[in-house]
Amino acid sequence: MGIDRVRWGIVATGNISTQFTHDLALLPDDAVVAAVASRSEESARKFAAEFGIPNAYDDYRRLIDSGEVDVIYIGTPHPQHYAIARTALQAGVAVLCEKPVTLTAAQAKDLIALAAEHRTLFAEAMWMRTNPVIQAVFADLERGVIGEPQQVVADFAFHKPALPARLLDPALGGGSLMDGGIYPMTFAYLALGRPAEVKAVGSLNQDGIDLNVAMAWRYDSGAVAALTCGLRSQNPWVASISGPDGNLQLPHRFHHPEYYVRTTASGAERIDVPTHGRGYHYEAAEVIRALRQGLIEVPALPHAGTLEILELLDETRSQIGVRYPGDDDDLSG
Ligand SMILES: NC(=O)c1ccc[n+]([C@@H]2O[C@H](COP(=O)([O-])OP(=O)(O)OC[C@H]3O[C@@H](n4cnc5c(N)ncnc54)[C@H](OP(=O)(O)O)[C@@H]3O)[C@@H](O)[C@H]2O)c1
Repeated sequence: MGIDRVRWGIVATGNISTQFTHDLALLPDDAVVAAVASRSEESARKFAAEFGIPNAYDDYRRLIDSGEVDVIYIGTPHPQHYAIARTALQAGVAVLCEKPVTLTAAQAKDLIALAAEHRTLFAEAMWMRTNPVIQAVFADLERGVIGEPQQVVADFAFHKPALPARLLDPALGGGSLMDGGIYPMTFAYLALGRPAEVKAVGSLNQDGIDLNVAMAWRYDSGAVAALTCGLRSQNPWVASISGPDGNLQLPHRFHHPEYYVRTTASGAERIDVPTHGRGYHYEAAEVIRALRQGLIEVPALPHAGTLEILELLDETRSQIGVRYPGDDDDLSG
């Protein structure tokens, strides 16, 4: 594909779309934001004015059909991801979609199949995977600096007196697991792979939204992972991977840290890895690289990882009793 500057279309004008669009400006030679779409004309115009975007639409579909973009970034609540991604892939427009890409593994599987059918790139915006600090940690693990990993511990819980409404609304895919739990799960998955056994407990509110979740994963190798997420506590928000020869520790907001601590027989060492921006341009750069190579899958954001995490989310939700509208939809037809 002879792409010069990749033309991005931003779908939705909320919190994360704003963060992501700020970071795209860090790739001036490779990316241009060509269009934005919102459900409201006023929001689309305001967002376009803020970022100097030439085209603004009051309808997501019109942006997809405009012919003005090579790739869309989807920043809506989770339940809306599937239909928007589907429409784009069918139109041959590449998709980078926020996490979790869908509510169920069946939906993710369908999108991956559609990407293959239409030879169109599809990726989940699991930005933690492309963070340089995280990559350095997993490079250490790969080099065997702590030996064979035996334990992973990670938590992702925060509390605000006024939580964003979508986090407590079942119709918007609310709950801590889908929003935050996906990070400790992905962290453990990157360290240890897919577990052989998963056990989860959760405390739900009266609307069936999970406010506190604890997960225990077991591996045939003998390794285990202990993972939590929640919306009611100010957690350390840290992660670690430990083996017989030491451990790798990630500090507060472990999914986009500024450094990590490597502890081995020679002592504890703080490793600073230079990062810049908010951290979203790293995933965007990977998408651009893949588009230029004509790929339909971004190597750093692999389809198999997206699908397996969604399968683990399905299983965890089933164990703790969290259900969403559409969970039983039959996608086979
Ligand atoms: N990667 C990260 O660091 C990160 C961080 C936070 C969230 N996320 C993910 O990003 C997604 C959005 O989160 P957010 O925090 O940006 O949410 P948000 O601030 O509420 O923004 C979501 C936007 O989606 C659009 N939208 C479409 N249908 C909607 C509906 N029925 N109700 C409400 N909004 C609707 C709205 O934009 P328009 O009105 O312009 O159409 C809204 O502003 C979630 O899937 C979340 O998991 C990722």
